[in-house]
Amino acid sequence: MLTHTYQSRRGELVEYFDRTAVEAWRRLTSDAPVNRIRATVRAGRDEMRRTLLQWLPEDMHGARVLDAGCGTGALAVEAARRGAQVIAVDLSPMLIALARERLPHDVDGGTIEFVVGDMMDPSLGPFDHVVAMDSLIHYQPDDMVRVLAGLAARTSRSLLVTFAPRTVVLGAMHAIGRLFPRGDRAPAIEPVREPALLRRIGADRALGGWRARRMHRVARGFYISQALEVIRR
Ligand SMILES: C[S@@+](CC[C@H](N)C(=O)[O-])C[C@H]1O[C@@H](n2cnc3c(N)ncnc32)[C@H](O)[C@@H]1O
Repeated sequence: MLTHTYQSRRGELVEYFDRTAVEAWRRLTSDAPVNRIRATVRAGRDEMRRTLLQWLPEDMHGARVLDAGCGTGALAVEAARRGAQVIAVDLSPMLIALARERLPHDVDGGTIEFVVGDMMDPSLGPFDHVVAMDSLIHYQPDDMVRVLAGLAARTSRSLLVTFAPRTVVLGAMHAIGRLFPRGDRAPAIEPVREPALLRRIGADRALGGWRARRMHRVARGFYISQALEVIRR
C-alpha cells in the first residue's frame, strides 16, 4: 500500500532528481573535478557501493538483482559484471537515459534492464537480492520499512538498504543545508536512529521471516550513510 507521505515524497524526488539536480548528479557520478565538499560525498558513495557489493555473492550467474533507485547505474554495472541479471529501476527518466548512455560494452555474463518507474511496482518481478543505495533515505522511516516489507515479499535472499543514521553531525549538516536557497535544496533526508529502525523491522509482520545481519556506517565529510543487510532467517 502506497501511503500519502510516500507518494508526496516520491513526487518531490522526481522533480529533484529529474530536473533540479540532474546536472549536479551527472557530474558527481562522473570523474569530472568537483569541489571539496562534493569530493567527500563522492568518496563516501564509492565506499558505500563497495560495501554493498561486498555483501553480494562474488558469482551471481543465474541471480536476479533489483537495483532499486539505480540513479546512473554504477552498482547495477558491477552486479552485472558478476553475472547477475539486473533490473535497474529509477523514477527519473533523465537518470535512466544517462545510465543507458554510460552502460559499458563489457558487462559480460550478466545483463541489465533499465526501467523508468517505482521500485514498488510488482511487475518488476521476483528477485534474489535487492539493493537500495541511498534511495530510501528521503522517505519517513515507516514508509521505508513498508517498502522493505513490500520488496521482501518478492525477494528470496537479501535486502541491502542504506539509511541516514540520526547523529549529532548529521543534525548539524541539516541545519547548514537549510541555509541554502530553497530551490537548490534536496528533498529532506529523514534520519533514523539505528535501534528505532531495527525495532520497526522486527515489528513488521511482513518481515517476520527476515533478520538484520550486518551494518556498516560510512562517514566521509558531508556523506554519512549506513548500510544494513537484511536476510531471510
Ligand atoms: C541519492 S540517489 C542514489 C542513486 C543510486 N542508488 C546511487 O547510489 O548512485 C536516489 C535515487 O533514488 C531514486 N528513487 C527514489 N525513490 C524511488 C522509488 N520509489 N522508485 C524508484 N526510484 C526511486 C531517485 O530518483 C534517485 O535517482
